[in-house]
Amino acid sequence: MTDQPFGTIFEPFRIHSVEPLRLTTSAERTAALAAAGYNLFELRAEEVLIDLLTDSGTGAMSAEQWAGIQRGNEAYAGAPSFYRFREAVTGLFPFRHVLPTHQGRGAEKILFTVVGGPGRIVPNNTHFDTTRANVEFTGAQALDLPIPEGLQPGRRHPFKGNMDVAALEQLLEEQAAAVPLVMLTVTNNSGGGQPVSLANIRAVRQVCDRFGKPLFLDACRFAENAWFIKTREPGYADTPVAGIVREMAALADGMTMSAKKDPLANIGGWLALNDDSLAEQCRNLEILTEGFPTYGGLAGRDLEAIAQGLHECTDEGYLRYRVRSTAYLGEALESAGIPVVVPFGGHAVFIDARAMLGHLDPLQYPGQALACALFEEGGVRACEIGTVMFGLHPDGTETPAAMDLVRLAIPRRTYTQSHIDYVIEVLTRVAGRAADLPGMRIVSQPRHLRHFTARFAPLP
Ligand SMILES: Cc1ncc(COP(=O)(O)O)c(C=O)c1O
Repeated sequence: MTDQPFGTIFEPFRIHSVEPLRLTTSAERTAALAAAGYNLFELRAEEVLIDLLTDSGTGAMSAEQWAGIQRGNEAYAGAPSFYRFREAVTGLFPFRHVLPTHQGRGAEKILFTVVGGPGRIVPNNTHFDTTRANVEFTGAQALDLPIPEGLQPGRRHPFKGNMDVAALEQLLEEQAAAVPLVMLTVTNNSGGGQPVSLANIRAVRQVCDRFGKPLFLDACRFAENAWFIKTREPGYADTPVAGIVREMAALADGMTMSAKKDPLANIGGWLALNDDSLAEQCRNLEILTEGFPTYGGLAGRDLEAIAQGLHECTDEGYLRYRVRSTAYLGEALESAGIPVVVPFGGHAVFIDARAMLGHLDPLQYPGQALACALFEEGGVRACEIGTVMFGLHPDGTETPAAMDLVRLAIPRRTYTQSHIDYVIEVLTRVAGRAADLPGMRIVSQPRHLRHFTARFAPLP
């Protein structure tokens, strides 16, 4: 006998309760897609076989989280559930003020209502859709400053989510007065779920200090980011994940957070920060829009589920499985010759739809076309992260996004390896007829966050 690790990817849990999956016919899927206006957000979940639309709020809770749900205290003010939640948050992110919100965008809305506004510029490595929309809604500009490698899907780099520090420096030299704060998204979701190194966070911090600007983390996938630091950044192999997270937090002045990602909850979020006067303005807005500051749009039971999830998501056995099982999908697609963003991120595998459907112009929405084909082929629901999501600008003009990706997001602790093997089979079949897939046109769309509700039609 030996303690040598086994090669099998081991799910460090067993199934506690199950939900049935319904197999559909190809004719049913074609009809469902047309009825949904070729927008996968408009499908009913029962029409989907394997749902990789998002990893947000779709994970399976643990027995201990369900126990927390029972323990939830629903006092309007000062519930013990709030204090357990706050202790779990500050154990990792020791910010002075913690404001619970109904989800991440609740925190963004409050923060940018206070610091945004016309003429302001908010830089980020890459803004996610809701962050960008919340910044732009105030009249401010949301500026992405990823490193150049972050925009090359086939280029390998251990920390492709890093911010371009020289570009940040130049922005601040030229327009410091317009920048209320600097954000860093860890991991960088729109950029392929790629991590940000501690060296990069430190370098951004130094630039922020030089110009007197606060640094905020959009920390939805902080635990996966910390795992990548542990396994890729020199000097951190022996540091516990929780210690790495605290080091990330110590470099920042605040954070926005969606508890629907790494904290393994189905709902929730928070805004945390050190500045007393900014916190007071945010708290007043929170009362107006989210609720009293000890529940902030959540039930006490939700706060309990988040507190427990925060303990579980930094477990290294869990994180090893999480990152390894995502890479399993990515490696299989890469071996099948499907162009994927490399290296693989923590929460998702991203397909380079612009390369895979090279016969389509970006304004024929190759990502949307591919995502629709995956659903039609095998009931797999994925998400376009490209020109549909980011191509429409506040002034009504449209340009191709930096990349046209399709994200296969993996819900946490939800699907088994055979489900993923099925996804690989579906992808491989679609790849075989990629050159014949038609592009898409938009039939109707709203002004903001159009990807959620726009309707499409296939091009002839
Ligand atoms: C990086 C990032 N920031 C913010 C959000 C917004 O969080 P929520 O969906 O909880 O509003 C998301 C959600 O997908 C995200 O991935």
